[in-house]
Amino acid sequence: MTTIEKTGAEPSARVEDNGGPLLEVRDLHVEFHTRDGIARAVNGVNYSVSAGETLAVLGESGSGKSVTAQAIMGILDMPPGKIPQGQILFRGEDMLTMAPEERRKIRGRRIAMIFQDALSALNPVLSVGYQLGEMFRVHQGLSKKDAKAKAVELMDRVRIPAAKERVNDYPHQFSGGMRQRIMIAMALALEPDLIIADEPTTALDVTVQAQVMDLLAELQREYNMGLILITHDLGVVADVADKIAVMYAGRIVETAPVHELYKRPAHPYTKGLLDSIPRLDHKGQELYAIKGLPPNLLKIPTGCAFNPRCPKAQDICTTEVPPLVQVTEEDGTELPGRGSACHFWKETIHG
Ligand SMILES: Nc1ncnc2c1ncn2[C@@H]1O[C@H](COP(=O)(O)OP(=O)(O)O)[C@@H](O)[C@H]1O
Ligand code: SF4
Ligand SMILES: [Mg+2]
Repeated sequence: MTTIEKTGAEPSARVEDNGGPLLEVRDLHVEFHTRDGIARAVNGVNYSVSAGETLAVLGESGSGKSVTAQAIMGILDMPPGKIPQGQILFRGEDMLTMAPEERRKIRGRRIAMIFQDALSALNPVLSVGYQLGEMFRVHQGLSKKDAKAKAVELMDRVRIPAAKERVNDYPHQFSGGMRQRIMIAMALALEPDLIIADEPTTALDVTVQAQVMDLLAELQREYNMGLILITHDLGVVADVADKIAVMYAGRIVETAPVHELYKRPAHPYTKGLLDSIPRLDHKGQELYAIKGLPPNLLKIPTGCAFNPRCPKAQDICTTEVPPLVQVTEEDGTELPGRGSACHFWKETIHG
């Protein structure tokens, strides 16, 4: 991998680091009031991310990953959405209770978001240079000419070839991978403290996926940003994440430093996800798939929400919700950053 060239602008001074996490989500609940009832999309999520750290949020479609991100960004549809409980602390301050103008300053400037679908996030009738430049014209009051120069600089930075010649091109003139690089450039423009990337490579070919992911990871390190990487694909996060939070039916069911999670999962759901990754050394073998589907959020199963699909389920699993508990070695030594919400986590990790 080549190192990217510095193109001038140094990351600007950030809000003073208070030593704590950049972002902390505490006991977050989100529900949607629909005609058919209340869909409980997020049911007590806790996670945090610090500067320079990458948290991967993993889970099948419908597990509440994007809704949690939308709550952080303040872009939830309310109504039908509602946040009955929880806190979202940015540098220790709860964004859910701060004044709207304070919150607006954080969103977009201090926290930026990258979406899966660049084509619908970009305006089709404006050149990419104009859209990138707009960030600088609006937020920093730069002239048109200076803003365009900044746009070219950013396009270079995310390694779009011939940036100078392409700055006046329109979104549809770029490939999917290049468009996603433009999304990354937009997110980086104001040098945020935190980027939330929601399935940023899901729409791309596998090889392009890896390139875009590598670029994102590299920029994150260089700018010392926090990164929340949302994905349903365990394969894409192994090399870039520091820690993983696995979500199921709106809850975190397992947390772990990334390599430990791969080596020794402490939750049957994580184990199922790992066993369903295609592996080159298992060619020809039938791929494991977790049986069944994620639950209907209007009617989440009692006890452990995963129980109808779990090969390890016992009676207690249908009656008692397993709390997220500290995972330890067999001798009781705590494993830092590791938690599991399974009644039988010991058997799962040590069995
Ligand atoms: N605007 C909405 N109205 C009603 N229900 C919604 C809305 N947005 C999301 N949901 C519900 O929240 C669930 C979780 O969605 P989401 O967070 O997007 O899942 P994912 O983990 O795939 O990102 C969805 O399956 C849906 O039931
Ligand atoms: S609590 Fe029970 S159903 Fe849930 S994951 Fe553990 S064993 Fe499976
Ligand atoms: Mg999603």
